[in-house]
Amino acid sequence: MTDTSSSARGRDTAPEQLQGERLRSHIAVRFACVRAVTERLFEPLSSEDLRCQPMDDVSPPYWTLGHTSWFFAANLLRPAGRMPSGFDGFDYALNSYYEGLGPRLERSRRGRVASPTTSAVRAYRRAVDAAVQRWIVECPTPDLARTARVVQIGCEHEQQHQELSVTEILHIRSADPEPLRRPYVASPARPPSAAGADGAELRQIAFAAGDTRLGYQGRPLESGGFCWDNELPAHRAYVGDFALGDRLVTNREWRAFMDDGGYHDPMLWLTNGWQAARRDSLEAPLYWQRDGAGGYARFTLRGLQPIDPDAPVCHVSFYEADAFARWFGAQHQDWRGARLPRELEWEHAARASGYHREDANLLHDDLSECLFDVDRAQASDGGLQQLAGTAWEWTVSHYEPYPGYRPFDGALSEYNGKFMDNQRVLRGGSFATPRSSARVAYRNFWEAATRFQASGVRLCVDQ
Ligand code: AVJ
Ligand code: FE
Repeated sequence: MTDTSSSARGRDTAPEQLQGERLRSHIAVRFACVRAVTERLFEPLSSEDLRCQPMDDVSPPYWTLGHTSWFFAANLLRPAGRMPSGFDGFDYALNSYYEGLGPRLERSRRGRVASPTTSAVRAYRRAVDAAVQRWIVECPTPDLARTARVVQIGCEHEQQHQELSVTEILHIRSADPEPLRRPYVASPARPPSAAGADGAELRQIAFAAGDTRLGYQGRPLESGGFCWDNELPAHRAYVGDFALGDRLVTNREWRAFMDDGGYHDPMLWLTNGWQAARRDSLEAPLYWQRDGAGGYARFTLRGLQPIDPDAPVCHVSFYEADAFARWFGAQHQDWRGARLPRELEWEHAARASGYHREDANLLHDDLSECLFDVDRAQASDGGLQQLAGTAWEWTVSHYEPYPGYRPFDGALSEYNGKFMDNQRVLRGGSFATPRSSARVAYRNFWEAATRFQASGVRLCVDQ
């Protein structure tokens, strides 16, 4: 209470560098927590779920348990000479895409092999856990900074796979024969949300043109912060006048697009999107199915649910989002020329409006608190709603390096950079994003036709 100057300082500046024993215990706790969340996430899965790969993009969960362990093995334990023995062939089975780390099993075959067995993968995971924990305690002080860095990256990597796993489990469960589809979590009557759109019109929140600063501007890694290489360097940019929708596009608005023939009007679609939509006979967002009474229901991790017209639409591709924007602009005078935001507009607006993950619909460490679905809740502050969590927001921006981008060193140089081709950027986070890894500068990226991620739509318009 007496030392007001130091508490003020604590709030405004980066904490001192974590060093020595404090750093060891910090990373040991972080590692144990992240690994435990993955285990809990997989607890409800059957042994058959663990081996199921319903499409090439969806890895079977056994593989994720192994791959996230392999990441620590290949990047931390082997370079340190601490690789547990007795796991020959696991590198081949569990390497995802690193050309520099040796040959690998093709992704589409992950669900077509019986080895490594699930129990062998669990044994591998336990051996890696023990070896990493021992290395955190025993690594010589000069190696500690590097160890902490790799453990931190390995934890963030595992959290990315927690998010992927949530969406993969949904896809696995949705692929079961319809009468046998099992919910992942029990579904009590959804607590009626106090705050919600309730058919409220989409409002515009305007942002004035000017200079802005993009990219990660938080604490550096040595002080307990984290960002991926693709969020750096922070840089200045000029942003024009624009307005964003105050909330995500809802199921009600999406249904109007469907009923107006939006899925069948080529004039609304990019040519690649139109081709994909016709090839796959798209009629509605992924996981929507007819309910037999002229309406639709959605398959979710809570089982088949009625469609809440005021909840954000989710599981739409970039192409669907882009077509919707064009349709919406033609329907509404004040939204003429509606489009998806550029990623710089999104980040500028999110920084100005406030990116709050505390009450957001994200993946909590305590899984019993998680919704595992989009919901209609909105804060009452009148700013941009649903920025953090709920659903990822497609941007029109192609995934490209920021000016001055430098990939991570060594084997991890392959982590992000080589995917900066033919993908679009998404911003914000979803109900599946671990809360501690959601950030305003975070750049997610997927191919434009991707639907199985929790992706939704925020509209933008030039002013
Ligand atoms: C950022 C979600 C596109 O799935 O390839 C996982 C995350 N990177 N392991 C992906 C990732 C390495 C990445 N996405
Ligand atoms: Fe990975």
